[in-house]
Amino acid sequence: MNVSAPIVITIDGPSGSGKGTLSQMLARHLGYHLLDSGALYRLVALAAMKKGTDLNSEDEVSQVAAALDVIFSLENDNSAQILLEGVKVTDAIRQEAVSMAASKVAAYPSVRAALLDRQRSFAVSPGLIADGRDMGTTVFPTAHVKLFLTASAEARAERRYKQLCKKGEIVDMAELVRDIRERDERDSNRSISPLKPAKDAVIIDSTTMTIDEVFTKMLAAIT
Ligand code: DC
Repeated sequence: MNVSAPIVITIDGPSGSGKGTLSQMLARHLGYHLLDSGALYRLVALAAMKKGTDLNSEDEVSQVAAALDVIFSLENDNSAQILLEGVKVTDAIRQEAVSMAASKVAAYPSVRAALLDRQRSFAVSPGLIADGRDMGTTVFPTAHVKLFLTASAEARAERRYKQLCKKGEIVDMAELVRDIRERDERDSNRSISPLKPAKDAVIIDSTTMTIDEVFTKMLAAIT
């Protein structure tokens, strides 16, 4: 038995479930590394868009994924930054156009295959919090603890609405609910690595919970 194998904790779930925030909180609290796998799909999408790659060509997009030149760095002020070919893209990968393209490229099996080893290489001592959709089912099937965080589409849309209002963006709530349902549908029904809890996952529904309540519940499941 390899006693020094790093601990892996997977956190899967749909967009807006609070996974990102909670993964960061847990990683900081436990002193573990963090894998934001969604950022990798966003980076592939952005790199392909910048290169003028045809997003309808699985072959071309998977070549971009295999050659992805990315650095995840922690700045002196503790903020996480992402560099794509040396250029800071931390905010650029969160744009709506990139979100849509990421969801498209994430459905290509060869893109997912090209990112597999890169994702697994994040599992180093003392441990890893892996945030995504298929962390517990595909990327880290032998993870020590698997969590699946979910919330109703309405609750997730409301959280997104508040975030966008804070940024001064005007959005329509009904449209947000519709978009979230559409994305859930696409992520849950794709043939490869669909969004679904691993058989041995602990499912947490955060619809009526605060972030702190979810954090406490997750920590209890881990320790
Ligand atoms: O979590 P996110 O919104 O940053 O993810 C961006 C896209 O990538 C989203 O459409 C889901 C997809 N994704 C995936 O297919 N598998 C993962 N492990 C993480 C994200």
